[in-house]
Amino acid sequence: MIAVVVGLGPMGRGIAQVLAEAGHSVRVVDATAELGQSGLERIRADGGTGDITAAADVESALADAEVLIEAIVENMDAKRELLARVAAAGGPDLLVASNTSSLSVNEMGRAFGAPERLIGLHFFNPPTRMRLVEVIVGAATGDATVKRSMSLVESLGKTAVVCQDSPNFIVNRVCRPLYYEAQLLVAQGVEPAVVDAAARGGLGHPMGPLQLLDFTGLHTHLASSETALREFGDPRYRPIPQVRGLVRAGMTGKAAGRGFYDYAIESPRDANTRVLRRPGPAGGSTVRVLTCGAPTASLVAELNRLAEAGDTVLDSSDGGWLSVVPDGVGWVRLHQRADGAAFAEVVEDETARVAVPGFVDQLLDQLQAPSVRVPALPGLVVDRLAYCMVNEAVTVVEEGTATAEDVDVALRLAMGHPRGPFESLRSAGASAVYQALLSLTEAFGDPRYRPAQLLRRQALGEARTR
Ligand SMILES: NC(=O)c1ccc[n+]([C@@H]2O[C@H](COP(=O)([O-])OP(=O)(O)OC[C@H]3O[C@@H](n4cnc5c(N)ncnc54)[C@H](O)[C@@H]3O)[C@@H](O)[C@H]2O)c1
Repeated sequence: MIAVVVGLGPMGRGIAQVLAEAGHSVRVVDATAELGQSGLERIRADGGTGDITAAADVESALADAEVLIEAIVENMDAKRELLARVAAAGGPDLLVASNTSSLSVNEMGRAFGAPERLIGLHFFNPPTRMRLVEVIVGAATGDATVKRSMSLVESLGKTAVVCQDSPNFIVNRVCRPLYYEAQLLVAQGVEPAVVDAAARGGLGHPMGPLQLLDFTGLHTHLASSETALREFGDPRYRPIPQVRGLVRAGMTGKAAGRGFYDYAIESPRDANTRVLRRPGPAGGSTVRVLTCGAPTASLVAELNRLAEAGDTVLDSSDGGWLSVVPDGVGWVRLHQRADGAAFAEVVEDETARVAVPGFVDQLLDQLQAPSVRVPALPGLVVDRLAYCMVNEAVTVVEEGTATAEDVDVALRLAMGHPRGPFESLRSAGASAVYQALLSLTEAFGDPRYRPAQLLRRQALGEARTR
């Protein structure tokens, strides 16, 4: 197949390389013939092989072409201008795809004039390595265009997930609350390394959300947060003020030497290691664990009775326990990751006078669970991050943007999460997640935690089948 790639930044160069390596004939174009030529030279220097040629302009590249993928600068006026040229020079069957991360595919379809042949193909960076492609379907995108796009993505050895055109698509949308909650935890006094170590240890994320934000650049994240707030018009998407402060101070992340981490002092990896307690050899007498959701009168009475034995640990992330947890009881939240490994959050809060009895470490050694110490904030860290992502994912499905299966595939492939949000939902149960979100809503009084109606219905359905 003859494919044209327009725009030879890192994305366009990577996409051209992937197309050529899959056996397609690729013509690359940039803003000028010289830029096109130097883009091709960079592709070759990066190890790109196969049939790739540079064309002087988009018009000459389009002769007999079947597909055009644009990866020019992220600016609607520039894309509109390019699409008008493509409409004038392209054949009647030309499939036109945009790699945009944030612009509307519907708007581009109208600018192109034949919206049935226009689609979004959102590759991830770097396209040569990342296996996921989000296929963004506009309201007027034709079924034939969707089918052709899916087989094109498959021909590249990548996995396609389908997403109706909507702000942030799937991956960036579902991760938005992960980033927001991580930042809010810092604003509420949790050390960034503790947040990241908890996300890695408890959820198996390859990199903590704050390290990831530092890597992407806080200014980029802030700009996309402003867009999300504007597009959705829902206060749950409002950016976290502290990040605005960091951006204004020029502390935009790793490239600037400082963001959530101060790279002159300690790397995120060292900081994550410093806050993590590794379990010692198992031993000692048995510790009693009471696993609970929100406190009820009978649970509190039982815990008070057990407290006297001096060997009881409460396992819960519900913030309601703060006012009723008895002295002498340890407070933890135990997690079992998708790979079976154990992890624990241990509540230690000097301000609220929640201490850690000695037998808590004994339990962690027995379970061989690495752990971090966290303050007594509602939801603690891991469940708060996980459930807010689940809630967003349920909203995405509720509004018809994507299927639950595609959301899970997308998060696993693009983010390396061992479990997609719907797998997490199945493992925790809809009622538990729904109740946890209600509890967060009550504790914080913030619409961020408002559970999706679909989740509420799932929780009720689950209760009725029990
Ligand atoms: N960088 C990422 O991580 C990432 C990930 C997914 C999607 N995207 C999207 O992919 C697109 C490209 O991203 P990038 O980071 O490679 O961009 P970039 O800004 O680094 O590069 C854009 C390239 O397009 C060229 N260009 C600009 N206007 C042009 C025109 N009218 N005709 C031909 N070429 C033109 C520029 O000279 C430049 O080489 C954007 O839409 C972006 O949102 C980026």
